[in-house]
Parts: sequence; C-alpha cells; structure tokens
Amino acid sequence: MLHLISAADLSHSDAVLILDTAEELAQVGDRSVKKLPTLRGRTVVNLFFEDSTRTRISFEAAAKRLSADVLNFAVKGSSVSKGESLKDTALTLEAMGADGVVIRHNASGAPYRLAEWVRGSVINAGDGTHEHPTQALLDAFTMRRRLGRLADLRVTIVGDVLHSRVARSNVALLHTLGAQVTLVAPPTLLPVAVETWPCEVAYDLDSALPKSDVVMMLRVQRERMQAAYFPSAREYSRRYGLDAERMARLPDDAIVMHPGPMNRGMEIAAEVADSPRSTIVEQVANGVSVRMAVLYLLLGGSEPALGGGER
Ligand code: CP
Repeated sequence: MLHLISAADLSHSDAVLILDTAEELAQVGDRSVKKLPTLRGRTVVNLFFEDSTRTRISFEAAAKRLSADVLNFAVKGSSVSKGESLKDTALTLEAMGADGVVIRHNASGAPYRLAEWVRGSVINAGDGTHEHPTQALLDAFTMRRRLGRLADLRVTIVGDVLHSRVARSNVALLHTLGAQVTLVAPPTLLPVAVETWPCEVAYDLDSALPKSDVVMMLRVQRERMQAAYFPSAREYSRRYGLDAERMARLPDDAIVMHPGPMNRGMEIAAEVADSPRSTIVEQVANGVSVRMAVLYLLLGGSEPALGGGER
C-alpha cells in the first residue's frame, strides 16, 4: 500500500495489520520508550488547508515518535493566499523532500489529485465530506480495546451523516471488520446514496440505543450546511442529542464515542461526554498510536523494534 486515502480501500487483513501494529506501538511515548528510530531520515509534511486540532497534532506527534522530520504547512501565512494552486504547493513541498504528505482539504477528492502529483505517500486527514480514514481506524482501535472485539459489534452512528466524512469512513471500515452499523439521523441529514452503504438506517434514537454496543455521536457541522434543512438546535437536541436520561437506555457495558470537536449541549450533553462510558479522550490518545502505525507501514520503516527505542 502506497497511500491511505479511503477506508474502503483497506482489506480485512490491511485493517487488522494497522490495528495490531498500533497496539505494538502504543507504548512508545511513555516514560520507558520515548521514541523509536524507525523513520529517521524520512520527512513527513502536514498539509492542512482546513482547521484541525486532534488530527494535525497527533500526526505530528506520531511522526516525531518515529524520529521522522516534520514540516507543518498552514494555509494562513502561505502563498495559497496569493492564489497558489494545490499542485504547485504540493510540488514545492515535495522539492523539499517529502516522503509522506498528510493532507486535510475542504474539497472531497483532493488527496486523489495530490497522489497524482507527488512521489511520496499521501495520507488523507479528512477531505470535504468524503473520508477521514485514520479517524475510523482510531475509532475501531478504541472499540476493540474497550470491548475486546469488532466482529458482530452493534455500532450506532448518530446525527449529521450528510456532512460527515467520519461516518462514511467508519461505515466502510466497520463493515470490512465485521461490525453491524446502524445510522440514525433526521432524513434531511442523510446523503441520497446512503441506500448503497453497507449499513442499516433508522430514524428513532430511543429505540436504537438498547440494541447498541457502541453509540457514536457526530458533530453537527453547521459550517457546511447550506441547502440542508436543519431543525432548531433545541429540536435537534431533543430528538437526536444524547443526554444522561437517553444514555441510560444503553446496555450496561456499551460505550459512547465522539470524534471531536464536540458541540456540548447539542449532539451530546456535558454529563455524557465526561461520563465513564465516554471514550472521547481515549480516542485522541489512541489516534497517535494508529497514526504511528499508518506512517510506519506506508513509509516503510524497519521493524518496530520496541526494545531498541531511545529511552
Ligand atoms: N476528529 C477530528 O478530525 O478532529 P480535528 O478536526 O480536531 O482534527
């Protein structure tokens, strides 16, 4: 595999290899093994055309824990503001020696274009409403760690599916890994093509919750809403928000996930986000391990010799 652009491109064995490698690398960064020399001499460029906190910082941390050099590119202050194209930006960065380019872009499909222009590996860190494959991988990693398996896990994904690259990547990856996914959303916040996705669709959250091992709340992406009908925040929260009363409908060992950033009080109540069932902070921590695994596997490091790390 040279690039990671879509979760749908991952076979079952590819996905399991990434999750298992992430598990092996999870101890890097703690006190006993600070970093590995695995990607010494490689350069990773973080090319973020859209805002990000978790993904950008965790890719940077992941690359540094594998001893890669990291170049961070932010649109603000760059020549993009003078009209420079994605292609010319990418070629400029490649001239500086990028072995891997991590890209976030507001245009769905931008990573595919980039992969035509650069020689190194392209990793999609979120493109428009299309995909966010490393988020799906870290979500699967978190589910497997918390619940011990992915096969036959009942995962309910709730909310603004229409604008969610996280939902699309999760549906593809979880299907590959044998989980059963149900999307719960207002009809106006579902994509037209959802009927072709490998999942169930439902509209009533209260009846879906007792049948869920995992409930994943999606952020309401008001910045992407143009023509889509959106009920008032109060109405949305009443029908599709997860508060403590609703959370009590879940089976005892079910977990609550959210990719972040959250709209506390809209799709998720603060008391739910901060509850012991919530994996939201774990998801962020697991993101570093999963992104280390992706960089390691794509950029062709030597064996992740945990014993040989820098202490
Ligand atoms: N989940 C996620 O992609 O968060 P950021 O936008 O902060 O990277």
